[in-house]
Amino acid sequence: MTSPKHVGSGKVRELFQVETDRLLLVASDRISAYDVILPQAIPDKGKVLTGLTAHWLEFTAGICPNHFLSVRAADLPDVGIEDLPGRTMLCLRAEPIPVEFVVRGYLSGSGWKEYQATGMVCGHELPSGLVESDRLPEPILTPATKATSGHDENITEEQAAGIAGASVYDKASTYAIEIYSKAAAAALEKGIIIADTKFEFGLHDGDVILIDEVLTPDSSRFWPENRYEPGRGQPSFDKQYVRDWLDSTGWDHSPPPPDLPDDVVDATAGRYREAYERLTGRALDGWLQEVSA
Ligand SMILES: Nc1ncnc2c1ncn2[C@@H]1O[C@H](COP(=O)(O)OP(=O)(O)O)[C@@H](O)[C@H]1O
Ligand SMILES: [Mg+2]
Repeated sequence: MTSPKHVGSGKVRELFQVETDRLLLVASDRISAYDVILPQAIPDKGKVLTGLTAHWLEFTAGICPNHFLSVRAADLPDVGIEDLPGRTMLCLRAEPIPVEFVVRGYLSGSGWKEYQATGMVCGHELPSGLVESDRLPEPILTPATKATSGHDENITEEQAAGIAGASVYDKASTYAIEIYSKAAAAALEKGIIIADTKFEFGLHDGDVILIDEVLTPDSSRFWPENRYEPGRGQPSFDKQYVRDWLDSTGWDHSPPPPDLPDDVVDATAGRYREAYERLTGRALDGWLQEVSA
C-alpha cells in the first residue's frame, strides 16, 4: 500500500489521494465568508460538515450513486493530522464536473438580487410580485461556474450544459432537483427550511456520482421554520450569521478580514451543532463516539 499523498487544500478541506482511486477529505474547522478564510476557527465545525454529509449521502443513496466509502476511524489512513475521526471521509475519487449545481426553493441571496433587477433568475422566468425569501412555485436549478480563484459566477443552464456536456448536465441536474426536493421535505419535518443548496457531481467509471459536501450549513441556507416570514432576510443556522456580523463591521470583503470576537465564534459553533442535531435527530457527540470506536 502506497502512503497517502496530499493533493490539495481547499478553503475548508485538505485532500489526500489514497491508492489510485480514493480520496480522503479532511474537513477543518476553518470558516470562509465571501470566499475569504477568516482568522478564527469554529470548534467542531469540520465534524458537523462531515457528519451531515454522511447523513445525507445515506439518505440520498437510493436517488443517485455517490462517493462515500467510510467515516470509521479504523478505515482512515494516517495522514499526519490529529483528530481525524469525525471530520474525515474516505471517498471514491471522481473527475469533478466544473459546474456548481445550485438548487433554489426560495428567493434569497444572489437569486433575490437578480430577480429584483430582471424578474428572472439564471434564465428562469418567475411569477411577478415575489418578495424576498418567498417560496418558489417549483425548485429551480441555477448553475454557477466553479471558479478556481475568485468568486463563483451564475450562468444559464445552456451555458452549464455546454461546460458539462448535455447528457451529463441533464443527469446531474435531474439528480440535484430530486435530492433537494426529498431532503427539503425531510428537513421541514424537523422544523428547518432548506432555502437553497449547492451540489457537486463528478464522473467515476463513466457514471455521474454525487461528490463533495452535501446539504451542510456551508453549502446551503438553513432557516428555522418557526421564524419564517417572507418579505425580509431570515434568521439562519448557516454562516449568514457570520456574514451579517462581518457586514456590521463595514469590512469590504477584501483580505485581511477582521478577527471574530469569542461570542461570535461560540454562537456560530452553536448554530452548526444545532443544525446537525436537528437535521439528523441525534446528538453530535453520539455520532462522534460511534465513528471513533
Ligand atoms: N469524490 C471527489 N473526487 C474528486 N474531488 C472531490 C471529491 N469530493 C470533493 N472533491 C473536491 O474537493 C474539494 C473540497 O475541498 P473544499 O475545501 O471544500 O474546496 P473549495 O474551497 O473548492 O470549496 C473541492 O474542490 C471538491 O470539488
Ligand atoms: Mg467546498
